[in-house]
Amino acid sequence: MTILVTGSAGFIGYHVSQGLLQRGEKVVGIDNLNPYYDVNLKNARLEQLKKQKNFEFQQIDIADKAGMATFCQKYPDIDRIVHLAAQAGVRYSLSNPQAYAESNVVGYLNVLEACRVLPIRHCVYASSSSVYGSNQKLPFSVSDPVEQPISLYAATKRSCELMSYTYSHLFNIPITGLRFFTVYGPWGRPDMSAFIFTNAIFKDEEISIFNHGNMRRNFTYIDDIVQGTIACLDRAPVPATEPEGSLVVPHRLYNIGNSRAENLMDFVQTLERVIGKKAKIRFESLQPGDVKETIADIVDSTRDFNFQPKTNIEEGLKQFVSWYRSYYAV
Ligand SMILES: NC(=O)c1ccc[n+]([C@@H]2O[C@H](COP(=O)([O-])OP(=O)(O)OC[C@H]3O[C@@H](n4cnc5c(N)ncnc54)[C@H](O)[C@@H]3O)[C@@H](O)[C@H]2O)c1
Repeated sequence: MTILVTGSAGFIGYHVSQGLLQRGEKVVGIDNLNPYYDVNLKNARLEQLKKQKNFEFQQIDIADKAGMATFCQKYPDIDRIVHLAAQAGVRYSLSNPQAYAESNVVGYLNVLEACRVLPIRHCVYASSSSVYGSNQKLPFSVSDPVEQPISLYAATKRSCELMSYTYSHLFNIPITGLRFFTVYGPWGRPDMSAFIFTNAIFKDEEISIFNHGNMRRNFTYIDDIVQGTIACLDRAPVPATEPEGSLVVPHRLYNIGNSRAENLMDFVQTLERVIGKKAKIRFESLQPGDVKETIADIVDSTRDFNFQPKTNIEEGLKQFVSWYRSYYAV
């Protein structure tokens, strides 16, 4: 049987595919290789995956209904899905809202439709800590209200959760949503803080620190995300036997984040230490759509699939900077 990984040329999709291949799974990856950030980086990740015999790749836009239907006919033995393709990024959603509706709403609907025609045992999809909006209660728990998203990105991720519940309810498909908290590591995304700061420090450029540095995040190392995602994939909610509230629907939601929250300035200072060079900092106010603090309550994910993040930021940033130096030859 085969596992479909959507967004396999992306940061998390690349690592999850590697993790699955390493334990002997057959993986088919799809991605539309869009130019939201450097396509060379996406292709370079794909090159690594294509070296492995159990990996196949198809360039497909998940928002293309006909393309997805043809894909499903071609791979009838897909029995699990890890859905990671999405238009990511909070700030970009202010200027390019359509991209979020297409990939995250229409695209995800096509993935859910694929779950109906394929013999899917479990579909695990990426949600985001951004669904918590400016929730004042910390840490964020999956039982907290999430009806006030403060970015379109968050609104589309919450939509994925609602659509998943509906498909799970209507068609008895086991589906689990993972709310990821700020992920970083080798092969990371160029639009995220670890990458932006590292790049700027190497190039002697200024970095913008928003909300004057008064931010806290669960920076989560990629290996911990992979471990949590695969462990979750192995534990599908059982259709029509486990209660969720008063309803019996095989849909679950979990937080996947580091157990420790870091002050943004501690993160920057650790990065300076690892690189061996000071950052040039410009303090700025909070950006629209940004959240000041994200702290994950991971009691449920630890209990249900033994999620235990192990990598602290010192170790994680060492790995990231080491990859950055070798990839960009600096
Ligand atoms: N990285 C994080 O910190 C973080 C945090 C919370 C949630 N997430 C979620 O995790 C998932 C993976 O994130 P990532 O950091 O790897 O992002 P990424 O942008 O590196 O990967 C997403 C991949 O999906 C592909 N894609 C986008 N739209 C597509 C479409 N319509 N059809 C086919 N492919 C498409 C992109 O080309 C990209 O390669 C996303 O759903 C994201 O929203 C990430």
